[in-house]
Amino acid sequence: MSNPIPHEDGMDHTLSLLREGYLYILNRRRGFNSDVFETRLLGKKAICMGGKDAAEIFYDPDKFQREGSAPNRLKQTLFGKGAIQTLDGAQHKHRKEMFMSLMSLDNLKRLKEMIKVQWETTAEKWEQSDEIVFYEEVQEMLCKVACQWAGVPVPGDEVKNLTNDLEAMYESPGAMGPDHWKGRNARNRVEKWVQELVDNVRDGKIQPPEETALFRFSWHRDLEGNLLNAEIVSVEVINILRPIVAISIYLNFTLLALHHHPEERKKLLSGDEKHAEMFIQEVRRYYPFFPFIAARVRTNFMWKNYQFEENTLTLLDLYGTNHDPLVWDNPDVFRPQRFNDWEGSPFGFIPQGGGEYLMGHRCAGEWVTMELMKESLDYLLNGIAYDVPNQDLSYSMVSVPSIPHSKIVIQNVNRN
Ligand code: HEM
Repeated sequence: MSNPIPHEDGMDHTLSLLREGYLYILNRRRGFNSDVFETRLLGKKAICMGGKDAAEIFYDPDKFQREGSAPNRLKQTLFGKGAIQTLDGAQHKHRKEMFMSLMSLDNLKRLKEMIKVQWETTAEKWEQSDEIVFYEEVQEMLCKVACQWAGVPVPGDEVKNLTNDLEAMYESPGAMGPDHWKGRNARNRVEKWVQELVDNVRDGKIQPPEETALFRFSWHRDLEGNLLNAEIVSVEVINILRPIVAISIYLNFTLLALHHHPEERKKLLSGDEKHAEMFIQEVRRYYPFFPFIAARVRTNFMWKNYQFEENTLTLLDLYGTNHDPLVWDNPDVFRPQRFNDWEGSPFGFIPQGGGEYLMGHRCAGEWVTMELMKESLDYLLNGIAYDVPNQDLSYSMVSVPSIPHSKIVIQNVNRN
């Protein structure tokens, strides 16, 4: 006999989810004193869960599948239709191999060299300005790096528009009205443009280097031996470009953490690479980014004496797992040193998803993210001096994604 899953009374809790944002699941896990509870979202039964054990179950492909879990508004802005995020089983693994083939040491080294050059050029430009809005500037810098790394030729005067479109794709999924449509229009525009590039690659009109996403994805064959259609290639190339631009959010939080924790800045200046890595991990753990991810129960199963019914929408709490007191000592304190003796579980620390890369949906770009954050942290510490004037540095725990309200203005930038 199973026990009933603790559940929220009421007809629908979608509004509470929107109102409580990153803390919605965590608040109820605390209230029910349970890692799993049942609620109703968008008029349907849904299960929410968080914590290390819940993450391990969620990433078991025999228990959960992704097909049918992403709402249309997400596909039409963030992912694109037919994207890897919506695949399961052998098809997913085969597509994931295509992504992971980009993550070789050589390719990551190429990326590091690119961001180094971009930091120098960008900082030289900043020296000429009285003040700059850090979020906007690093987005554009990352867009240039993303295109160069992915082999996507973008004319200099189009970089700003492309940056805005890629930004709209990740800022719009949860937005209402015109802000949401901005994301859909942006996706339609960029998908069409990248499709033309794919056709040009296949017709031999452009020849991106072999190690780039545009080249590899254009020539990738599916399990039946066919080339992917150009629409899908476009969606997947954008799955490289868009999240690289979104790293601007982590870079903003990196700058914020340096500003709020001068003692950590000192340690970093006298420390080694290990210190830098711990700092970056703590930025990814501590600050809000993706609140949760969704899947559907594949077949009926029991867990902790609770019955999970086939096809039930289930949300895994990413933010709450990274702030779970059972996994993290004083989770609401920013303390990079905690990573010194971190046990390394792929389920307790899940800012970019958990589990493993090929058999699961864990983020394909985690190493890219880490490398770009490390190089950028180094440049912020050793490459430039700058001032952070008084401004509203607070950030929301409700809006997704959350970005400090002022987008961080810095002044008096000088290269060292
Ligand atoms: C900006 C920081 C990033 C964050 C916070 C982030 C977060 C995530 C999350 C939460 C997932 C879903 C995991 C799941 O469904 O189990 C994911 C998947 C994915 N990410 Fe990232 N990501 C980031 C950067 C990147 C970068 C830089 C790339 C590519 C260069 C990338 C490519 C992908 C892809 C292709 C997937 C789908 C993987 C799959 O379905 O198997 N991400 N990411």
